[in-house]
Formats: sequence, C-alpha cells, structure tokens
Amino acid sequence: MFWDCKAALLVEVGKSYKKISLMEKVKIGIIGTGFIGNVHGRIYSGLENAVISALYDIVKEKAEKTSKTIGGKVCDSREELFDHCDTVLVCTPNKTHIEIATDAVEHEKHVFCEKPFAIGTEDAKKLLETANNGKGVFQVGHNRRYAPVYQKLKELIKTDCAHSAHIKMNRGELKNPVWTGDVNVTGGFLYETTIHLFDMCRFQFGEIEELVAYGSQHEYPELDEFSIIFKFKNGFHCTFASSSDASWHFPFERIEVFCHHRTIMTEEMEHLIDSQGMDANFETHSFAMTEKEERWGYVKEDKAFIDSILNDKEPPVTAFDGFKSVELVESVYKAIKTGQKVRFD
Ligand SMILES: NC(=O)c1ccc[n+]([C@@H]2O[C@H](COP(=O)([O-])OP(=O)(O)OC[C@H]3O[C@@H](n4cnc5c(N)ncnc54)[C@H](O)[C@@H]3O)[C@@H](O)[C@H]2O)c1
Repeated sequence: MFWDCKAALLVEVGKSYKKISLMEKVKIGIIGTGFIGNVHGRIYSGLENAVISALYDIVKEKAEKTSKTIGGKVCDSREELFDHCDTVLVCTPNKTHIEIATDAVEHEKHVFCEKPFAIGTEDAKKLLETANNGKGVFQVGHNRRYAPVYQKLKELIKTDCAHSAHIKMNRGELKNPVWTGDVNVTGGFLYETTIHLFDMCRFQFGEIEELVAYGSQHEYPELDEFSIIFKFKNGFHCTFASSSDASWHFPFERIEVFCHHRTIMTEEMEHLIDSQGMDANFETHSFAMTEKEERWGYVKEDKAFIDSILNDKEPPVTAFDGFKSVELVESVYKAIKTGQKVRFD
C-alpha cells in the first residue's frame, strides 16, 4: 500500500494495485432534473472529484428517475437540498434562475447557473451584485465557449487579422420543451437560443461598442426573427441573423470570419473549415466523431467549474459574463422597439 501523486491510495490486490481516491469530492446538488440537469448530472457522476449528493425537482418523479441513474438523495424542498450539498446547479427554466441562484448564493453555496443568467437588466444587475458578494464560485452556463470548434476558432483568429464576420444562430421550433414558446418563462426567444452566440461574440471578438437591429413576428406571439449588426470597440464588425423556426437545417449555427485572403467557417460544433490564400484550398478540422457532451463543451465546462471550486479560482464564464449577455439581449430588443442604434460606453 502506498500513495500516488494525486492523493490516491494504491492498495495491493493480488499482483496489481487498486486505486482508492482520497481526493476531496465536491458535493453536487441539482435543482431541475430535466434535460440539461441530467446532462450535467451524468458528467459529474463520472468525475472522480465530484459526487451527486442531492436532487430537487418540483416534479418529484423526475428527480427519482434521475437518482436511479446517477444517485443523489431525492429532496422534498430546496432547503433540504441545501442541507446535503456544497454546490448547486440551477437547471430550471429561465424565469426561475434569479430566485433559485440568489437563494443558493445566500446559503453560501458554489453556484452553476444555466443560461440565461437572468431575465431583464434589473434582475441581472441584482444577481451580479449577489454573486459578487457570495462566498463561493459562481459560473454561468455558456457551454459553447468550451466547445473544441470555438476554441479552435479563437486560436486561429488570434494569429491572423480578422476583419468582419457573418453569424447565424437559428432554431427549428419553440415547441420542445413546451415552455420555450412561452415568453413569460423564457423572457423571449433571444434569451432562449440566440444568447449563446451573443456570448460567443464577446468571447471571440471582444466588447461591443454599438448595435443596430431589426425584428419581426411570424410563428409565435413574440418577435421571432432578427437581423442585427454589431460594431466592436476594436473596429471589428459583424452581421448576425437569428430565426426561431427556420427548421433544423444543418448547420443551424455558423460563424464565418473574414480575414486577409482567408475565410474561417464553423458548422455547428461539428467542423471548422479554414480556407487560406487565393487558390481556394481549405483545411477541415472535424470534431464530429467526439461524444456530443464533449463536442458541445459540457464536459470541459463542468470540469472547469470543479477546478475553480477546488483551486479557489475565478471560473472561465463569470457572473459578469452572464450579465453582459443579458445586457446584449435587452439592447437588441430596445434597438428594435425604438428604431435607434444602442451604444455601450
Ligand atoms: N447550455 C445549454 O446548452 C442548455 C441546453 C438546454 C437548456 N438550457 C437551459 O437550462 C434550463 C433548463 O432547460 P431544460 O431544457 O433542461 O428544461 P426541462 O424542461 O427539460 O427541465 C427543467 C426542469 O426543471 C423543473 N423545474 C421547473 N421549475 C422548478 C423549480 N422552481 N424548482 C425545481 N425544479 C423546477 C421541471 O420540472 C423540469 O424537470 C433553461 O434555462 C435552459 O435555457 C441550457
């Protein structure tokens, strides 16, 4: 029996050794055990430095079903869940994030809040202040920042001078889950889907200086079709289109970046195509064969959260980033309503 370098005990079993990890385990509590709660739950249950400790869902059977696959005590209330974990994942529909995340911070928990951070600038300001005054780590669920395709894009545009871009972020429908078509729950289509690539704009190209936007309403009782132009503080600019019912035609999200005699294009989180020079040759980076949870960035996102907790580090996507993405959503709605450009100081 001896120790290896990762604080694990190696116990002799016959002619080999069995590894028993004595690493500190982060005790995870999941609030909302629907689609995304289960995605994160499955990932954390496979990490050696995390354990699923507690689950709470207003539909108890959902938490019971999740518990059968990943473990965790099924709780009857948020309060009970807080008693059984040190870290809370807020995986409930959009409008509930502010209340649940605030409650978790006030109970001195580390908090992972799914996107959107909040609905409306006022609530986002309040939650930012709460998170900044909290005792634990606060991370926001903009998973795409960790997707290999977008990390590759960031790496490539760092070495070249990107001039402008064209971005598309579509959805096929607002029917699944059913609440995605209810503006009182989502805060609006931009909060549900488009916000992912609003955050991506800041991640790839920097802070935005001003925007103009047009919107219209077709299939749903809210604005559901958008055309936006962003100008960035560094002079970069891009067009951005987003439709809520454009079918799930591949690729429903795409970034095309234009550089000097070079176009770099992403196709969802599957491929990146890099066309350099005047002869139209191109190189393809494909991530299509990796597991979806890796490809969409969820695995790296969850590992980053644990790393921040265990090493007392700022997370890669902070409450401020969450706030900025809400500010962008609200600014686009304001630009459409007023017909005026919106400037950021
Ligand atoms: N980052 C991503 O890629 C990604 C993907 C999907 C969803 N999301 C976000 O995650 C959140 C959840 O989405 P989903 O698709 O998992 O929805 P879902 O409907 O599948 O699951 C939500 C769950 O929360 C439960 N719930 C509702 N109100 C609750 C409350 N007050 N307390 C406890 N439980 C409650 C519901 O019963 C349900 O089981 C949304 O904010 C959504 O925008 C993010």
